[in-house]
Amino acid sequence: AEVVIVESPEAAGALVATEIVELIDRRPDAVLGLATGSTPLPVYQALRAQLAGRDVSRVRGFALDEYVGIDPAHPESYRSVITREVVEPLGLDPQRIHVPNGAEATIQHAGEDYEAAIQEAGGVDLQILGIGTDGHIGFNEPGSSFASRTRVKTLTEQTREDNARFFDSIDDVPMHCITQGLGTILQARHLVLLAFGEGKAEAVAGAVEGPLTALLPGSAIQLHPHATIVVDEAAASRLQ
Ligand code: F6R
Repeated sequence: AEVVIVESPEAAGALVATEIVELIDRRPDAVLGLATGSTPLPVYQALRAQLAGRDVSRVRGFALDEYVGIDPAHPESYRSVITREVVEPLGLDPQRIHVPNGAEATIQHAGEDYEAAIQEAGGVDLQILGIGTDGHIGFNEPGSSFASRTRVKTLTEQTREDNARFFDSIDDVPMHCITQGLGTILQARHLVLLAFGEGKAEAVAGAVEGPLTALLPGSAIQLHPHATIVVDEAAASRLQ
């Protein structure tokens, strides 16, 4: 993988946004793989300015994951987050932006449905990724198979603690999620993994240089022929 060390999250955001704008210029119906959480926010922020004046009406997108059993209207459902941070500010067509369906009533086939939708779109052109402090990508927690597809997973205690900041208390963080699998993510044509801060240094080193192991799901990116890692100095501090 190619590792790019940048000065700040803002610089990372500008760099990745430029890559995305070039993609959309080449391919107006580009399929973006969207991550939630704090890490990609500078990218979405930079895209507001960089995409201004461009026709984005045909751009398509697929989120990585969603909580199971959360009301889609809850402000912290990933459907809401993607709408608020990406669809509305960038003026994307909400009909073309997909988020896995975390509704309990249809969860049995939600993974399969999502895989079919990605397939029908012709696959993801550029997948934005963050990484968890435990090395997860998407919500593929340690122990996830490299061949896994979109499915329901149980969030680790660590991830629920990490995400409690978005909720009133840790008890409000859902127990389960539906996430693209590592096999799904690896099929995107370009992976762009971002990480900022000391807290991510261990996970980044494991993902980029550690052994390929299901115990550090981010290490799956080493199997990808076109992966770009964009990190600040702190997140890069454990790299050899
Ligand atoms: C979010 C996702 C997760 C996050 C990871 C890092 O869609 O799939 O893998 O990227 O938990 O979260 P932040 O960026 O909040 O540190």
